[in-house]
Amino acid sequence: MFDWLEFDQKTKKGFEEQMEQVKEVMARYIEKNSQIRELAIYDKPDQETLDKIIGWDIPAKGREVRDISNELIDNVFEKAMVLQHPRFFSFVSTAVSPYSVAGSLLSDIYNVNAGSWELAPGAGLIEEKLIKWMGGLAGYDGDNIGGIFLSGASMANMSALVAARDSRLSPEEFPEGVVYFSDQTHSSVEKGLRIIGFREDQAVKIPTDDEFKVRVDLMEEAIERDLAAGKKPFAIVGNLGTTNTGTIDPLEKLGEMAKKYDLWFHVDGAFGGSILVSPIRRNLAKGISMSDSFSWDTHKWLMQVYSCSSLIVKDKSNLFKSFTEHPEYLADVSSSEHGDGWDLGPEMSRPARAIKLWYTLQATGTDLLEELIEYSFYNASLVEKELSKRPNWKIISHSSCGTVNFRYEPEGMSEEDVDVLTDKISKAIIGSGFAFIVTTTLKGHKTLRMCTINANTTEEDIRKTVELLDELAKRESNAFTG
Ligand SMILES: Cc1ncc(COP(=O)(O)O)c(C=O)c1O
Repeated sequence: MFDWLEFDQKTKKGFEEQMEQVKEVMARYIEKNSQIRELAIYDKPDQETLDKIIGWDIPAKGREVRDISNELIDNVFEKAMVLQHPRFFSFVSTAVSPYSVAGSLLSDIYNVNAGSWELAPGAGLIEEKLIKWMGGLAGYDGDNIGGIFLSGASMANMSALVAARDSRLSPEEFPEGVVYFSDQTHSSVEKGLRIIGFREDQAVKIPTDDEFKVRVDLMEEAIERDLAAGKKPFAIVGNLGTTNTGTIDPLEKLGEMAKKYDLWFHVDGAFGGSILVSPIRRNLAKGISMSDSFSWDTHKWLMQVYSCSSLIVKDKSNLFKSFTEHPEYLADVSSSEHGDGWDLGPEMSRPARAIKLWYTLQATGTDLLEELIEYSFYNASLVEKELSKRPNWKIISHSSCGTVNFRYEPEGMSEEDVDVLTDKISKAIIGSGFAFIVTTTLKGHKTLRMCTINANTTEEDIRKTVELLDELAKRESNAFTG
């Protein structure tokens, strides 16, 4: 018999023994997770480590799992940015729920293929239930709510644009189609349009106001101008939580405009979609019910491991129209009654991504997630409050969806010099190892950006980080001006 599980023929290590060693990795994970605060935020791999990895071979004979795990943990995983660290304030990073890890692990162990209903009916039902729950939170109603879990909002936004294109344009009209969105919209929208074949001039970026919200009046002017020129405006994208500033566009106004011009209205809720779980904050997303689709990354604010994103549409027939194929080899495992994942999006085989979110929701309940959202908003306001106590700090974008942007602007320093100083402050705080804060650029100038959505971040973390920022800003500014 070909006993492939006894893969180390030399030591005769068998499956069970190897799996015992896998359990050691799990034990180590549980221990580490409780000590995440103690980890270096970024223990960047040195050249020696990188050379070691470059030198690794793919062996002809199997090896002990313990050795493989240890070398991966030491050289790969613990030499990467700890985005889950409570003082990692960059990008849109959060603590990961161990329940999400458990749900993900379970899905991996069973390796169900959620490509079609028939392949994993229970997973299909759970996914459908979650999609309807998410749509319901956005105010969608009716039996046609549908959607799909995808790898990330990049895929979700692109899939929405495919559905938008196919619902509003005939293939002959594709070259004239135009989509409109703010200059703060995530690059995945532009990238998605490029991938699906649109030219750069078919993606129109509309300026934003002082609060980084899209200028709806300018969007309307652009649409009118394009219509008069014989083009085919077919979609607008609104933001529920921009990456830079956590800004929420005036979704209601965008919804009205979409209706007036018969445009598909997509909301990028990759980041801010999670405020929908909070009855206190949900109102900020008013108008999302008027959209045709929205994306929501639960691997952002809702503490899911990658990758757990979703696209929710008001009428799932639009997804079926764009994504259905009927190959003969899948006929026996396809279901016209329920609809299959592979007919709702671009993927065929795919993991049951919804399971980890389901697992987390069951283990924590929604009350806790509501509290998390509130806590994140609170922590971002605390950043503002602490900065306002100190001279020279200027808030560039007020806290929104747990995100705040600011600069240190000593009197008399030019905007350009402040840009350079901002970079130096960011590098200094990262170099200190205490907190991780990178820059972004708003209206042409560098800012420091903090996103405070990590459930493990304490008020003390925020206070000490601002204190250190202030110290470093003074130091860097003195060094800079000489
Ligand atoms: C607003 C927004 N949209 C889309 C994306 C892309 O999401 P993903 O990285 O899951 O593809 C991001 C990622 O940060 C985002 O912040």
